[in-house]
Formats: sequence, C-alpha cells, structure tokens
Amino acid sequence: MTDQAGPRRNPTAGAGPLVNLRDLWQEARERLDPVHRDFFAGGSGDERTLRDNEAAFDRYRILPRVLRGGGDRDLRTELLGDALSMPVLVSPTAFHRLAHPDGELACARAVAAADTVMVVSMAATTAVEAVAGATDAAGRPPRLWFQLYPQPDLGFTESLLRRVEDAGCRALVVTVDSPVFGRRERDLRNGFLDLPPGLRCENMRDPETGRVRDIVMDADLDWARVGWLRERTRLPIVLKGVLHPADAELAVAYGADAVLVSNHGGRQLDGVPASVDALPAVVDAVRGRIPVLLDGGVRRGTDVLTALALGAAAVGIGRPALWGLAARGESGVRQVLDLLRADLARAMALAGAVRPADLTPDMITRVPR
Ligand code: FNR
Repeated sequence: MTDQAGPRRNPTAGAGPLVNLRDLWQEARERLDPVHRDFFAGGSGDERTLRDNEAAFDRYRILPRVLRGGGDRDLRTELLGDALSMPVLVSPTAFHRLAHPDGELACARAVAAADTVMVVSMAATTAVEAVAGATDAAGRPPRLWFQLYPQPDLGFTESLLRRVEDAGCRALVVTVDSPVFGRRERDLRNGFLDLPPGLRCENMRDPETGRVRDIVMDADLDWARVGWLRERTRLPIVLKGVLHPADAELAVAYGADAVLVSNHGGRQLDGVPASVDALPAVVDAVRGRIPVLLDGGVRRGTDVLTALALGAAAVGIGRPALWGLAARGESGVRQVLDLLRADLARAMALAGAVRPADLTPDMITRVPR
C-alpha cells in the first residue's frame, strides 16, 4: 500500500545498512521539505494507478530454469545504437534541484559512472548543455537522452531540438501522455504551484529574449506532430506514455524508433493499468519491429527481470533515482543503480539466465488478484 507520503512501507526496513531501494526513500523522506516530498511521491486523482504500478509486480511470479551454468551474468544491453552496461535507465523527472542542490548534475555523474542512460527532463532545473558537461570521477561524460513536451510554438520547439542535438543528446523521448496536466491533489492541497526563487526550468529559456517560458501541455498534439518531429531531427524518437496496442502500431507506422510503456508514474490519467500489465499487449502489437521500454513501479531486480521476460528491452526508474538524489546526492543515485544492477544479476542467476535475451515469457506466470 502507498501511504500518504510515499511508496509502500518497506517490509524489511530497519535502522542500519542500505539493503534495498526503499531504504533510500526512508532517508530521503526525512530530508525533503514535506511539500516537495509530496510532489515527488504523489500521483493524480485517487492514486489508483500509482499504487498499482508497484502492486502489479507482486502478481507476477518467476518460473526459473535450473542447471544452466553460465558463470558471471552479462547485463549489457544494446539500445538505439547505445551500448548500456545494464537494461536499466533513468527516466525523466522534473526539478532535481528540489531534491538536492547538485540536482541534475549529480544524477548525470552517477549515470555516467554506472554507464547507462539518463533521460533529461524538459522540466530540468539545469540546462541540458550543463548536464551534458557533467563527468564522473573518471572523467566520463553521461549518455543523455532528452525528454520533450512538444510546444505549440513550433519555432521554439525546433530551437530546443537544435540545443538538444548540439548538447550531444542521443535520442529524443517525446512524452505523449500529457495533453493536459494530471490533477495532482497532494500538490493542490499543499499549494505547490511554483519552483522556489532561484530555480527555473532552464531548458525553457527563450533563445531570443533569455526569459524562461512556462511549459505548455499541448492539447492539440497529434500523430502529425510525430511526423513533424521525425522530419526535423536525426535523433531516434522514443514515444513515452504508450499504453494501448493500437497506439503502439501507429508509433511504428509514424516512424518511432521505440515506445516506452508508461503511465507517467501514475501522475497523469488515474485509473489506467499498471505499466507491467499493459506491456504484453504492446509487445505483441509491435512484433519486434522496434524496442519496447517500460517504466513505472520498478523497485527490484525481480521487477526488471519480469519486465524483460515479458518483452521489454529495458526499463526506466523515476522515483528511485529521486530517492537516491534526495538522500545522498550523486552517491545516492549511484547506490540506487548499483543496488539494482546487483539485484538483477542475482535474480538472473537464480532464474538461470546469463543474458537479458535468455529471459522469455514462458518464465513468467501471473497469480490471480
Ligand atoms: C515524473 N515523470 C516525468 N515524465 C516526463 O516525461 N517528464 C517529466 O518531466 C516528468 N517528471 C516527473 C517528476 C516526478 C517527480 C515523477 C515521480 C515522475 C514520469 C517519469 O518519467 C516516469 O514515467 C515515472 O516516474 C516512472 O515511474 P516510477 O519509477 O516513479 O514508479
């Protein structure tokens, strides 16, 4: 169950060592301003979908294979031309500097060290060029994708595309589940409307006036705009927020390079299925033509394993990265990624899989509610 201030209580938590991701939530929630804590933790409406994203994973069971040997697990994953060290990336989340003063830079450094992908939110509190300039302790830059809410001002959208390309981002993640803002009741009750002084959505700075624009959710957004984007960027396009198999089919038809099955962490339309429940029908519709990604409720290596076995090429984490960031800055995000990596490797070993490709749908069963 999700309590008022955050995700499920941690069944194995206690004061002591960092054992799983939820330990970092316990730490983060003590550090965060309660209004910001609600912003990060909350969802829309009655938060049915928010709760279901995690609860749904509880309904899947893994049927392991035995006696398959294989030694060390190999988690490396090829995605849109990038070689990731594991099939886990950091989904786009707004306002990292509300979680920690180092904000998006800390997250980028941790992701560089973990050798995976960070999807920079259009609502980042650090400019994409600065995030691209962050390096880990060994001097490695992060691998970045950029998340876009296409703006009705096409000229501005196009200038942002150029910025994103020039900054070296390697894919464009177009969020399609947000023609309007979801109704987040915690934020309404808390009166959380604006960023505190000094923090801005730096990617929204107008190149001509230097002023920061508000992000507009475009209720007119349609498939034609995907075609428009396709003609204006050489970057691979990922459509984020696809749940219906018919839309997955259209995504392929309109030239998307991947779809990300997501319900925005339960923050947009409340009452939609948990991401993992929506995944199999999308995988069926896509029929291997483009990669299918998933985010929502991933907290354990076994969750990653389940999504991969059901056909996801990789998964994203939203809130867990924020927990790590709020609790411990860069090292916290690093710990989140390291914990998930180790947890996934162990789960794969126990399930008899050497590589992600060894995970197949026959290894997953679903228990009735
Ligand atoms: C988000 N998410 C999101 N998505 C997006 O496309 N652009 C954004 O700016 C944001 N911002 C954002 C802020 C916060 C605080 C949260 C929790 C989420 C959604 C995010 O990318 C992702 O879909 C979910 O967070 C995945 O679910 P989990 O991992 O949080 O359960």
